[in-house]
Amino acid sequence: MKRVVVLDFGAQYAQLIARRVREWGMPAEIVDGQTPLAEIEALTPAALILSGGPQSVLDPDAALPDPALWRSDLPMLGICYGMQLMAHALGGGVERSPVGESGRTRVRLRPSPLFVGLPGEIVAWMSHGDRIERLPPGFMACATTDATHAAAMDDGGRRHAVQFHPEVAETPDGAHIIGNFLARVAGLEPGRAVQDFVAEAVAAVRAAMPAGDAICALSGGVDSAVAAAIVARAVGERLHLVFVDHGLLRAGEAEAVEGAMSEALGLEVTTLRCAERFLAALRGVEDPEVKRKVIGETFIRVFEAQAERIPGVRYLVQGTLYPDVVESGGRRAAVIKSHHNVGGLPGNMRLELVEPLRTLFKDEVRAVGRQLGLDPAIVNRVPFPGPGLAIRVMGEVTPERLRCLRAADAIVREELERVTDPPLWQYFAVLVGTRSVGVVGDQRTYGETVAVRAVTSTDGMTADWARLDHDTLQRLATRITAEVAGVGRVVYDITSKPPGTIEWE
Ligand code: XMP
Repeated sequence: MKRVVVLDFGAQYAQLIARRVREWGMPAEIVDGQTPLAEIEALTPAALILSGGPQSVLDPDAALPDPALWRSDLPMLGICYGMQLMAHALGGGVERSPVGESGRTRVRLRPSPLFVGLPGEIVAWMSHGDRIERLPPGFMACATTDATHAAAMDDGGRRHAVQFHPEVAETPDGAHIIGNFLARVAGLEPGRAVQDFVAEAVAAVRAAMPAGDAICALSGGVDSAVAAAIVARAVGERLHLVFVDHGLLRAGEAEAVEGAMSEALGLEVTTLRCAERFLAALRGVEDPEVKRKVIGETFIRVFEAQAERIPGVRYLVQGTLYPDVVESGGRRAAVIKSHHNVGGLPGNMRLELVEPLRTLFKDEVRAVGRQLGLDPAIVNRVPFPGPGLAIRVMGEVTPERLRCLRAADAIVREELERVTDPPLWQYFAVLVGTRSVGVVGDQRTYGETVAVRAVTSTDGMTADWARLDHDTLQRLATRITAEVAGVGRVVYDITSKPPGTIEWE
């Protein structure tokens, strides 16, 4: 999918830049500012935005982009440090300014595609020390302030830069300026990238499946639902939907998934109840990677058996996403976790894979789901890993430990589903596998520990622990220890990703 790539030079506001772009109707992804151009191009960028950053381009260790970037003809918007990078790299002059600018600042605008529709003067948020004292050859200043003659510049073509921060709320016309960059400089249309993706993905699936039927494993999550919806649009009833209840689902989930999915996709869903088979395969297994492999392998065997019951099935549809591919070693050297729908596949699988979402990030999948008209309850579902609760029970998975985790998890979901600030990417309970001493009444107890995990994130690649309010945390601890037999202690996980991962295993 065509997307805007935000090069992050350590800005406080990189997420906000991406958010403004998404609000306008274009997918956006953030990458490290020093990412090689070839890797950026692999993300099919329609435009680049260079973020601000804490450094000075004059510092000897300043974070500089790949020099090849300056030979690319992609539309480019530099913001603050991003503007200074552009000036510095393209032959202009940047100097340390005795008086920087910070806070709300009056900016006088000259004609520029970025400023179409705005008055001659606006208020914008500044936060910089260095300033541009000489523009690069071919550039014109298109905004000034009392302190600088170049508060914005452009080369009359695809390269634009602003010294102020259009992404923050303190620049009231900032969203308009970003919109102008996307529409007037980059020539993009809101919503178009998602529509084009759907049309191309449907055509690609048709081409990839000239004959024969497909089977799709629904997990109840947004990825498999969207993958199935694309394939259903491409080949209709040649798609067979299967939902494997592996016994590692959350409370009430199996029933909810069956109903919601057949309704959303307009195709019949066959549910296979296999809890005993999975639990037997997991007996005695403690290592997380072995768990994933065992579950992945059992999954595939269950499918193959099902597929054999349906004449003419040749393909397996999966909702694999770009981060799954990257984290399973597709593009990075080290395998972080073998996500079951990529690295965990047995080598001798007999079905051919169809993975229409392989190039997408999670938020883009949601946009595609909305474009396909899927129920918002499915599109906005909290992500749930394929191996399910097995990777949230540390150590061996037993029916009793699953019961305990499921009950704690139901409380976490009930309490945190109402939290909108901060917006939570994922929240769940983990059975830590450590027992601790407690006291109830006059009795000594020695119960299990439950960890609560709640994170904010935009794509699951990085995440931050959610700053939940103390009353919410208190309610979680009180309810879990009171309502879940065998649990004596609740802890809150305050690890970000990196260095932690979102899941514990
Ligand atoms: P981690 O734990 O790697 O998780 O930070 C990133 C996102 O991926 C989900 N996840 C998985 N999804 N199979 C999946 O389908 C897996 O094996 C798996 N492991 C982690 C995790 O829930 C989070 O959203």
